[in-house]
Amino acid sequence: MTSKIQQIMANPDNVLISSESIQQRVRELAQQISDDYRGTVPVLVCVLNGSFLFFADLVRQLTIDCEVDFLKISSYGNSMTSSGRVKILKELDCHIEGRDVLVVEDIIDSGLSVNFLRKWLSESRPKSLKFVSLLVKEGAAVVEYECEYIGFKIPNKFVVGYGLDYAQLLRNLPEIYVMTSTDD
Ligand code: IMP
Ligand code: MG
Repeated sequence: MTSKIQQIMANPDNVLISSESIQQRVRELAQQISDDYRGTVPVLVCVLNGSFLFFADLVRQLTIDCEVDFLKISSYGNSMTSSGRVKILKELDCHIEGRDVLVVEDIIDSGLSVNFLRKWLSESRPKSLKFVSLLVKEGAAVVEYECEYIGFKIPNKFVVGYGLDYAQLLRNLPEIYVMTSTDD
């Protein structure tokens, strides 16, 4: 039996974004964020689980002081389409009132998670609240949303790797793949 990761990696045609392109873009985003936040000490919020690799790479490229914190939300279960419901599974540990907060997301699809988080985190009255997402799916939004920093705009397809999962697997791929089918 071959593993899911071996099956995916056997199809290099399905690579959407190479590891080198990801790292290059992460460096550019980190540069822009460092410039924009210089003189402040923002709290960077990792949205678990999908953002863990992007978050780890991004914060390591920042040239400003920052704090990190983690929250976990769920909306998808194990399916490839959104259930449309967002639940908080782990809250922040730090107090963000009066702080500059930058939320780090892996991907924006329907926009429901980002909108939910913006509203929910605003209630704690941060000094500023911005979002960075490595990926944004074009034409997938079901609600209007704002995202201040975007890594890549991608087609409206299900993708895996670099933190993004299918049924909790394939997060450990170093590049981003388009998932073509689930039964191979
Ligand atoms: P949204 O609320 O529909 O914008 O979806 C946000 C969350 O759904 C993301 O943070 C991901 O965790 C997950 N998600 C959306 N699209 C994909 C995908 O193509 N692959 C893996 N996870 C996805
Ligand atoms: Mg996510």
